[in-house]
Amino acid sequence: MSSAPSPAPSLAVDLPAPLPVATPGGRYDILIAPGLLANPAAWQGLPPAAQAVIVSNPTVWALHGETLQAALAPHYRRVSVALLPDGEQHKDLATLSLVFDHLLREGCDRRTVLFALGGGVIGDMTGFAAATYMRGIPFVQVPTTLLAQVDSSVGGKTAVNHPLGKNMIGAFYQPARVICDLDTLATLPERELRAGLAEVIKYGPIADEAFLAWLEAHVDALLARDAAALAHAVRRSCEIKAWVVGQDERESGLRAILNFGHTFGHAIESGLGYGQWLHGEAVGCGMVLAATLSAELGLVPAAYAERLHALIARAGLPVQAPAMDESRWFQLMRVDKKAQDGEIRFVVIEAPGRAAMVAAPDALVARVIRRHSAARP
Ligand code: NAD
Ligand code: GLY
Repeated sequence: MSSAPSPAPSLAVDLPAPLPVATPGGRYDILIAPGLLANPAAWQGLPPAAQAVIVSNPTVWALHGETLQAALAPHYRRVSVALLPDGEQHKDLATLSLVFDHLLREGCDRRTVLFALGGGVIGDMTGFAAATYMRGIPFVQVPTTLLAQVDSSVGGKTAVNHPLGKNMIGAFYQPARVICDLDTLATLPERELRAGLAEVIKYGPIADEAFLAWLEAHVDALLARDAAALAHAVRRSCEIKAWVVGQDERESGLRAILNFGHTFGHAIESGLGYGQWLHGEAVGCGMVLAATLSAELGLVPAAYAERLHALIARAGLPVQAPAMDESRWFQLMRVDKKAQDGEIRFVVIEAPGRAAMVAAPDALVARVIRRHSAARP
């Protein structure tokens, strides 16, 4: 039985203008501002239910859990908490099961709303749990890392890793709202802030040259956590992401550009073992390789690749890939979701501010990897 969708309730006036996301799988708002966890207006008009479940990890829960719990208390009769172990190495089916165990133990029904409080790991796992528990229940993203605020909480990609490949098991499933409280970034460790900057930098070369120039001028302010700079970076990143996923929710074409640097990056992450390099670090280094590949293919001048390399280095991200056998690189890159019939495809910059997906000769890719890899010990 289905009923006509009701119009999204309007949000209270004491919030900044929400940023709408419109996909076939759902329309929702991204709220971006400081102080949202404690702002009652941000929590109005969410899907009604008797129960809410906050999914988080002990690190984030200790910092921001109580504030979220207080925000939800007026709206749900019961708010319970499922804490998962912290870290990319726990983004797997076994940990996901802990969420289902909690939901079943708590007698959660189809109206129960899940709240993902944390970074991309918690967001991706909570989203996948919401997509599959009783074949789908509502969820809200409350991202607390820069990476999650600018990328993973928006667009409905949810997944867990498999030992043989990153994010290989998942679903497209859109949240009911994304609530980015910029104040949560104050507690983020330095290394995580830098990792988040990788996904911010990505949006420049793939979609917005002016944003790339702005990042070159403001990377130091971002590293110093200047509030205005962070607010602009999160908002512009979310605008670009919303624009992309609004056109191609399920990555049948355009959305793949968001994976600039990721084919190399995912190989680094799974090759070294999840949790060794942070996702953003692997993506940062992957973008250096993908930019060089773009230049080697004659799409952009070498100076453009060097410009990206310099910005990624200034953001404090690794620009040299770890030593890994060539055969291992290719084995891992063939498991990438963009590969087709065993052919690896790379997102490249086809002109400044514009990306495309191409296949590239193995010999050329191997040369690019060698140029940017650490020597074997
Ligand atoms: P993460 O979720 O592991 O968080 C990083 C660390 O920061 C964790 O230890 C976490 O506990 C801690 N943390 C989170 N918020 C904090 C805060 N406010 N203060 C202090 N500590 C805090 O990592 P991440 O970089 O946020 O996300 C990476 C994941 O996102 C990867 O699994 C990646 O595949 C996924 N991802 C998904 C998408 C998507 O579209 N779904 C896009 C990009 C990345
Ligand atoms: N982060 C890649 C995507 O959302 O498609």
